[in-house]
Amino acid sequence: MPKNRIRPLEYVSKIKPYVPGKPVKELERELGISDSIKLASNENPLGPSPKALEAVKDLLSADGGLSRYPDDSGYYLKNALSERLSRGGNGSRAGISADEIILGNGSNSLIDTAVRTFMGPGDEAIMGSPSFVFYPIAVGSVGGISIEVPLVDYRHDLTAMADAVTEKTKIVFIANPNNPTGAINKSDEFERFMERIPEGVLVVMDEAYCEYVRDGEYPDTLRYLHEGRDILILRTFSKSYGLAGLRIGYGIAPNTVITEMDKIRGPFNTNSAAQAAALHALSDEAHLKKTLEINEQGKEFLYKELGAMGIRYVPTEANFIYMPLKVESRDVYNALLKTGVIIRPVGPKEIRVTIGLPEENKRFIESLKKIKEL
Ligand SMILES: Cc1ncc(COP(=O)(O)O)c(C=O)c1O
Repeated sequence: MPKNRIRPLEYVSKIKPYVPGKPVKELERELGISDSIKLASNENPLGPSPKALEAVKDLLSADGGLSRYPDDSGYYLKNALSERLSRGGNGSRAGISADEIILGNGSNSLIDTAVRTFMGPGDEAIMGSPSFVFYPIAVGSVGGISIEVPLVDYRHDLTAMADAVTEKTKIVFIANPNNPTGAINKSDEFERFMERIPEGVLVVMDEAYCEYVRDGEYPDTLRYLHEGRDILILRTFSKSYGLAGLRIGYGIAPNTVITEMDKIRGPFNTNSAAQAAALHALSDEAHLKKTLEINEQGKEFLYKELGAMGIRYVPTEANFIYMPLKVESRDVYNALLKTGVIIRPVGPKEIRVTIGLPEENKRFIESLKKIKEL
């Protein structure tokens, strides 16, 4: 054994790593089963749009372009996003131009890029607890300090988060809807929060699940962009667009923020297949509609069944449901696993289940019923 092994930076060695699930095939092999269902990572159970699949297939030929680097500027996708975001709906009344958009290898990578652009050792980032597990990892990677503010009623305590801002604060992360709880912060409380956030602090609104939101009081965050606020809105093609495996997400921010992040995101950070698939997925509004309908139906079914079983759950605005149980979440996870149902334990007594196809939801409930105490 060599004596002087390379040492990580001290702050990197302190990071608690993200623990991914095992590959489904491997779990099945270990358990001796073959028809498991994965309701653990909030993916789209319908899969991607057929249009996105066609776009990827078109690349799979000798001259399809895979031997060439992708378009670094993401020209077509950014323009399509600019057009879509300027149209309204989940977008804004104001226009969003392509130079206010950055593409990333999943929105995860943009969390990382934002942290590396705006934070250094000793700087602080404020986030909810529990919230998306990657925020403290990204912050820790640059020697930053994560200030974790407990949720109230399963959503971010925006008052306490604004109270936590100090001279060292560089970023405030808000996952809306929050992962793992699925609850949202509404526009009036967000407005009050923004009024209290001083200049020089970047508010990162992580809207990975925004397409699923039904609540009419969901904040129109794009508005703040044109009020000269330092806000970075993150969205993804991994969830409602069903492209998690291709890794593509995007950020929307004032051009001053985008320009700096662009410098260090790394050239060609989104691949050709991901760009093509995302562009076509965006154009398939019928597939998105179907995705959202299936999610709503699944939600109603699960609410009804969980209610009948007397199991507590947090009403969700996303494609997953958070359940605070009376028993150890690991035990429930293991018991469900034996029946081929993979969910995610997200706290000592809390589990999160992705809303699946009708037959998957049914199977989850049937498996849950076999567990004596919950
Ligand atoms: C709140 C939140 N943000 C970001 C992500 C990252 O998504 P991706 O990197 O696949 O775009 C996730 C994924 O689970 C998430 O739940």
